[in-house]
Amino acid sequence: MSDTASITLNGNTLELPVLTGTEGEKAIDISKLRDQTGHITLDPGYKNTGATKSAITFLDGEKGILKHRGYSIEDLAEKSTFLEVAYLLIYGDLPSKETLAKFRSDIKGQMMVHEDMKNFFAGFPSKSHPMGQLSCLVGALSAFYPESLNPNQSQEEEDKTIINLLGKMPTIVSWIQKKSLGHPVVYPKKDFGYIDNFMNMIFGEANADKVFDDAVLDAMRILLILHADHEQNCSTSTVRIVGSSNANLYASISAGINALWGPLHGGANQAVIEMLEDIKNDGGGVEKYLAKAKDKNDPFRLMGFGHRVYKNFDPRAKIIKKACDDVLAKLGVNDPVLEIAKGLEQAALNDQYFIDRKLYPNVDFYSGIIYRALGFNSEMFTVLFALGRLPGWIAQWKEMRDNKEPIGRPRQLYIGEVDRVYIPLEER
Ligand code: ACO
Repeated sequence: MSDTASITLNGNTLELPVLTGTEGEKAIDISKLRDQTGHITLDPGYKNTGATKSAITFLDGEKGILKHRGYSIEDLAEKSTFLEVAYLLIYGDLPSKETLAKFRSDIKGQMMVHEDMKNFFAGFPSKSHPMGQLSCLVGALSAFYPESLNPNQSQEEEDKTIINLLGKMPTIVSWIQKKSLGHPVVYPKKDFGYIDNFMNMIFGEANADKVFDDAVLDAMRILLILHADHEQNCSTSTVRIVGSSNANLYASISAGINALWGPLHGGANQAVIEMLEDIKNDGGGVEKYLAKAKDKNDPFRLMGFGHRVYKNFDPRAKIIKKACDDVLAKLGVNDPVLEIAKGLEQAALNDQYFIDRKLYPNVDFYSGIIYRALGFNSEMFTVLFALGRLPGWIAQWKEMRDNKEPIGRPRQLYIGEVDRVYIPLEER
C-alpha cells in the first residue's frame, strides 16, 4: 500500500498521496489540494516545494552528494570531458564513441557567430557588465534563427538549436572578454577542441594561437563540469518557467543568465574575490569580517558561504579547492588572497554562528581564485559559470518540454486593500 498524508480542514479530512523518488526522497502530492479544499499552500522561496519530477540531477544536501543521471560528480570531474557531461545531461545517457565524435564535430561546426551580431555588440559601452552583454546576445540569437521560435519544432530542429547554442556560447563569451580589453575578436579554429578553442579565443590573438599548459585546460575542464547542472536552483527554475510559456530556447536561457547574475546565486564568485580583496586591503585580518557577517544589523554576508540545499558540505567546493591548489602550484602562482580564503574558511568553520546554521563554503568560494590565476578578470567569473551551466539549463528546458509540463504559474495569498471607493480628482 502506498503512503498517504492526511490534512484536516474545517472538519473534513483529505488523503494526499505520498510519492517516493528513486533515491528515496519523499514528496506529498498536493496537486489536487486547491480543487478539493479551496486552499493553497504558502512557501516563500519555495523552500519546501518541489516544482517538478526530474531525472537529471540528484543531490542530497545533508550527505553532500551530487549525481548527474546516476553518475557521481567526483567520477565525472575526474574522468570525463565537458561535452560528454553535456550530452549525458541533455540526452540522458553517456554517448558512444561515435555519438560523442559526431556531437563534438556538430558543435564545432556551429562555433562561428553571424557577423551581423557584431552590430548589436558594438553598441555596448566597453565597461558594461559581461552578464548583461551575455544575456542580450544569447537572446538576440533568436533573431538569426527564427525557426527556433516555433514551439512545435521537430526533435531534429530542436537538436539543431541545442547544438547551435552550445557552439556559439564560447564564441560570444570570448567576444565579451576581447571587448573589455579593446582587442579584436579571435575566430574559432577547426582543429581545436571545445575548451582549447574557447581559451584561444579568449587569450589568443587574431594572428597568433596560444598554447596552454595542460594544467590550465584541465582546470577549465573541471570548472565547467562542476557547474554543469544543479537541479532546480534559481536560474534553472527561471529557464524552466520561461520555457513553460513555450518561449524559445534562446529566450529561456537568456532569462536564466539574468537570474544567475545576482550575488546570492552565480554572481557570488565575483563577490567572493572582491570580498577577499577588501580583506587583504584592510590588513588581512578575517575576524572583523566574520563579526560583520554575524551582525544582524549589517547587510554584509560572507560571500561563498551557505547554500539553500547543502547543509553539510558542497561536494563541488571540495573538488574545486583541490583543483585550485593544483593549478596554482603548477603555474607557480602565489596569490595572497588564497591564504586569506583558507584562513577565513577555517575561522568560519570553527565559529558557532556558522556551525549552528550549517554554513559551509559553496562552489563559488574557490572558483574565482582559479579563474583569476587563469587570467580572467572578476567581472568575467559569472559568465564562465553560465558557460558551464549551459548544458544543465538546456537539459532542464528539454525535460520540461518533453514531459509537456503546464505553464508555471504560482498562486499567492493576497494581503492588500479590499474594496476601496474611487473618487476622481477632477472631472473628465
Ligand atoms: N553569511 C552570514 N550569514 C549567513 C550566510 C552568509 N553567507 N548565509 C546564510 N546566513 C544566515 C542567515 O542570516 C540566516 O540566519 P538566521 O537564521 O539567524 O536568520 C541563516 O544563515 C539561514 O540563511 P537563509 O538566508 O535563510 O538561507 P537561504 O537558504 O535562504 O540562502 C544563500 C542561501 C542565498 C546561498 C545564503 O546562504 C547566502 O546569501 N550566501 C552568500 C551568497 C552566496 O555565496 N551565494 C552562492 C550560493 S551557491 C550558488 O548559487 C551557485
